[in-house]
Amino acid sequence: MRVLGIESSCDETAIALVEKQGDHFTIVKAAIASQIITHAFYGGVVPEVAAREHAELVFPLLEQLCLPRDGQSVDVIAVTYGPGLIPALRVGVEFGKVLAWIWQKPLVRVNHLEGHIYSVWPKGTPVFPALCLLVSGGHTELILMKDHGVYEHIGMTRDDAAGEAFDKVAKLLGLCYPGGPEIVRAADAGDPNAIAFPRPMLETDDFDFSFSGLKTAVRREVEQGKWKKEDVAASFQAAVIETLVKKTIRAVFQYHPQSVILSGGVSANRLLRQSLKDRLSIEQPRISFFAPDFSLTGDNAVMIAIAGAYLAERRVFVDPLFLQADPNARLI
Ligand code: KG4
Ligand code: ZN
Repeated sequence: MRVLGIESSCDETAIALVEKQGDHFTIVKAAIASQIITHAFYGGVVPEVAAREHAELVFPLLEQLCLPRDGQSVDVIAVTYGPGLIPALRVGVEFGKVLAWIWQKPLVRVNHLEGHIYSVWPKGTPVFPALCLLVSGGHTELILMKDHGVYEHIGMTRDDAAGEAFDKVAKLLGLCYPGGPEIVRAADAGDPNAIAFPRPMLETDDFDFSFSGLKTAVRREVEQGKWKKEDVAASFQAAVIETLVKKTIRAVFQYHPQSVILSGGVSANRLLRQSLKDRLSIEQPRISFFAPDFSLTGDNAVMIAIAGAYLAERRVFVDPLFLQADPNARLI
């Protein structure tokens, strides 16, 4: 089965053709256009600007894939319908609907979070149940995936997402957007034990996260004026990672998964990957750990096509006449 994935929920326009053979996936062709430079100018993503760029980019990206114009190399079209920025989502959704209509191909709608989970599939097939820590600019979620399409929501952020915290702290330190890679660069030269930032909600007996208090603690430190950028970055990063890892490990003990999946933009953080992997191999060595290839940590269309392939296999098709983007789409 060959699935054409389309992603436009935030500031990446992406189209990919993926082939599924059993549980094995081949990325046949993939094209992506990032708007980071545009949005860095504003210090964050401006939804209307993102939508305009998506609209300008979708056809040139499809052309980059060099597919036959009659769609004969595609069996199914998969498009992200939410969650995300509504003007941005609409561009991809309408594009997917039009392609499905003119090519007369079945259409599936993919939840963006589900897409991030499937971003690890090219690395191997996780055994269910899989505990997923999904950390991105818009989300921090712990999700138990019991089977394809069967999810239990275990925990989420009560305020800022992990990536959002990286972005906001970077701004406080005068670093560029997106903040994650900038914080990492500064932290590499800093001391993670220099400042004892709080580890938010570590002691609560739920699986929720909260990062706004940590951001306030960083702001207070910065306002006091006696800080070294590298130390603040390293200490902040250590606090976020310790919180994410400890809560995930606690969820492992409660839910007994066979696999742990780390995904989303923040999964590009090497220290987070290593810490979670190490902790898991000490506490539960029989559980396998999956993180996406670095090319698939951020938003992309490969993950949407893979998620779409499993939806298509279950024949969860949607009518192109009625599909709507949903900025608050839920996984469960
Ligand atoms: O998944 P993604 O590309 O977009 C959303 O769906 O939100 O995630 C983007 C987020 C940004 O907040 C960015 O700062 C963060 O991922 N990020 C990182 C790293 N690389 C990107 N955060 C921490 N460490 C990184 N290396
Ligand atoms: Zn994302």
